[in-house]
Order: sequence, then C-alpha cells, then structure tokens
Amino acid sequence: MHADSVNFPPELITLLRGTSKLVALTGAGVSQESGLRTFRDAQTGLWAQYKPEELASPEAFARDPKLIWDWYAWRREAVKAVRPNAGHYALVEIEKKIPEFSLITQNVDGLHRMAGNQQVIELHGNIQRVRCADCYTFTETWEDDIESVPRCRKCNGLLRPDVVWFGESLPRDQLEAAVEAARTCDIFFSIGTSGVVQPAASLAFAAHNRGAAVVEINAEPTPLTPKADYVFHGKSGEILPELVKMVWG
Ligand code: APR
Repeated sequence: MHADSVNFPPELITLLRGTSKLVALTGAGVSQESGLRTFRDAQTGLWAQYKPEELASPEAFARDPKLIWDWYAWRREAVKAVRPNAGHYALVEIEKKIPEFSLITQNVDGLHRMAGNQQVIELHGNIQRVRCADCYTFTETWEDDIESVPRCRKCNGLLRPDVVWFGESLPRDQLEAAVEAARTCDIFFSIGTSGVVQPAASLAFAAHNRGAAVVEINAEPTPLTPKADYVFHGKSGEILPELVKMVWG
C-alpha cells in the first residue's frame, strides 16, 4: 500500500483531532526504513540468520561472553550509522499535538529520542548503554580488547549491553509505566511490530479491553489485526507522515 493511496476513515481523523490521551507502541519495523534489520522478517530478519537463544540470552553470555559482546558491538555500530526516518519524525509531530502522549518502544536503537520524542518508554533497554553484569554499574566508556570483554571498574565484573535478553525480566519502572499508559489511553497505535513477544504484545489487547480504539500500522498482518479497529498494512515511514498531514494538515 503506497501512502498517497491510504484511505484514512473520517471517523479516525475526528477521533485523533479530539483525543487527549494516545499511546504508540513501536517495534523493529519502524526502524526498517532507516536501514536497520528487523528480527523476524523472512530472510532479512536477524533471527533468520542467527538463533536468538544463541546470542540474546544470559545463558549465551555465560557460555561465550566475547561472542555476545562482539555481536552487540556490531549492532551498536550499525545503529550509529543510521538516522531516524519519516516515521520517527511523524511520531514527534503527534507527541506535539496530543496532551498526554506515551511512546512505548521495544527497540533498543534509541532512534525515537534521537528524532526528538520526549515521552519514551524503553521496554527492552538501549543498546548504547553498557552496564556491569554483576553490580549493574553503568559506564559511558570502556577499553575494547581484542581478546576479552571489558570489565567493570568497580567490581571487575563483565560489562554487557543494557538490553533485555530472552528469559530476563523487563525494567520494572518502564513496564509499569507502559501498562498504566495502555490501560488509560483513548487511542493505541501498534506500529512495526509482529506482536509475538510478551509482555509488549499484550499491551494493545489491554488497551482494547479498556475501550481504547486500536490502530495497527504494519507491513503485514499480525495476531492483533483481527482485534484492531483500524488497520493499515504498509510502511510506517510512508503511512505515519500521511496521517499527520491528513489530521493536523
Ligand atoms: N513499516 C511497518 N512495518 C514494518 C516495516 C516497515 N517499513 N518493515 C517491517 N515491518 C514489520 C514486519 O512485517 C514485522 O511484522 O515490522 C514487524 C517487525 O517484527 P519483528 O521483527 O518481530 O520485531 P519486533 O516486533 O520489534 O520484535 C519484538 O523481539 O527479538 C525480540 O527484543 C527483540 O524487541 C524485539 C522483540
């Protein structure tokens, strides 16, 4: 679906002009047009090439910390090489228009903040942040070493990216803020996420069950599609700017 052919129902436009509380949940799809790979897109997704349990779990880090450190260092460089796209900037415009706006992201790339969003809830952490695996001390700088993983200056523990690995719990404050926002919003956008990873995948249903209007913008159908009130299957970097133009002109 190309953006200039998107048919935005008038009642959605009226709803957006009248809403005071909106939540947007985003996933890897919103960063795809910036040049970052998603996780589950066939062939192109990271998980099509690598096994998540072998690279994104505490067990994998315990087994081979250097392999995991280097993989995240590679991803961190990939993130540094890209910029937010029109979809990110459209969400900044929406934040300016809506009195109570929350952006809940599963992305660890930091592109929403880089684009200018303020109210960002990072459910899965941020790849630019590094912390000690033992004492949790964060550090901005570390000595990269060909042989081994850099160590914590405080307790000599191994450093690791501040992201949530499979089997780990989400940061409590971020999760509580996300659940609260989803349960009290008028409109809930689900953008660029396959909707298969919990607990993020339950947020749209929580909003739906509380009577919020649910809008899905995704390149393909997801488990949320049958429940969503408005569905736009296409590229978020094309659809979101078009929607902003239609609603706020
Ligand atoms: N615009 C909109 N949607 C897109 C685009 C695009 N340009 N490109 C891809 N998509 C869609 C895909 O069709 C897919 O449904 O984005 C979705 C991305 O899904 P995943 O790759 O599963 O990523 P995500 O939902 O963010 O994964 C959730 O899983 O691997 C873990 O921790 C990781 O945060 C991640 C979580």
